[in-house]
Amino acid sequence: MTNAKVIVVGNEKGGSGKSTLSIHLAVSYLYSGYKVATIDLDGRQGTLTHYIENRVRYAEENKLDLPMPEHLVVTPSQFSNKRSSEEDEEQLDEEIKDLKNDYDIIIIDTPGTFSHLSNAGHKNADILITPVNDSLVDIDVIANIDPNSKEIISESQYTQNIRDIQKKRADLGKDELFWIVLRNRISHIDAKNKREVDSILKKLQEKLGFTYISGIGERVVYREMFLKGLTILDLLKIDKDEISISHIAAKNELLTVLNTINIPLKQDI
Ligand SMILES: Nc1ncnc2c1ncn2[C@@H]1O[C@H](COP(=O)(O)OP(=O)(O)OP(=O)(O)O)[C@@H](O)[C@H]1O
Ligand SMILES: [Mg+2]
Repeated sequence: MTNAKVIVVGNEKGGSGKSTLSIHLAVSYLYSGYKVATIDLDGRQGTLTHYIENRVRYAEENKLDLPMPEHLVVTPSQFSNKRSSEEDEEQLDEEIKDLKNDYDIIIIDTPGTFSHLSNAGHKNADILITPVNDSLVDIDVIANIDPNSKEIISESQYTQNIRDIQKKRADLGKDELFWIVLRNRISHIDAKNKREVDSILKKLQEKLGFTYISGIGERVVYREMFLKGLTILDLLKIDKDEISISHIAAKNELLTVLNTINIPLKQDI
């Protein structure tokens, strides 16, 4: 597809919800009528890959017609023999180029640590979504913050990396990378920490050039869906009797993320 979009879900911190968000974005765009491919760059852990395998199995066992993305795992050189990181990068670029011919949207899940492959994935992004857990510790992956003034002391390695990618894109005359920071697992209890995270991210967005979304709530349902490979959208379609306010709130939060990404949905999801 000439206008294919690459969405990278990235954060060099583990457990911020990247894989869960990746499958939710993939299924959202599938229901909306797009052709979607997914790439797992975290082959070692393979959460997104297992999520999709669970989905295929659950659909077969329950005779459900669940939409599936075309899925690819790209493994780094340390797991194959003697390939260099440049060759890894070239291979990934090739895979993405090929997928762009056949798919409208490519969603790339990345590991929670730096890797050459993950970096190569980030370089291919049109849209980058960084989920951060609702804690001051998790903001550290974006910037080091002064505890009193809440001003930025220094930008993190990850933020500098994104800045470099932006600069290279500008030099090549490419569109700007659209960077979204999404607060995830927001607790329902009102706490000082929670308000601080919100006010710091609001402040950071102008300085660092991302769009901040606040965000996705801490919901038990997210932890329960993995083994069936389901998303909140599937639950709302399949399990109509079990729909709760929390399910609907979760869908609305997902719709806010999709609205911000701004790839128009072709049909209601
Ligand atoms: N909004 C949420 N509410 C409750 N639990 C959540 C939410 N989002 C993610 N989780 C849970 O948090 C854990 C980590 O999520 P996930 O595996 O998606 O993170 P990750 O960033 O991909 O982790 P890693 O860096 O290890 O790849 C999982 O148990 C997942 O079910
Ligand atoms: Mg993951």
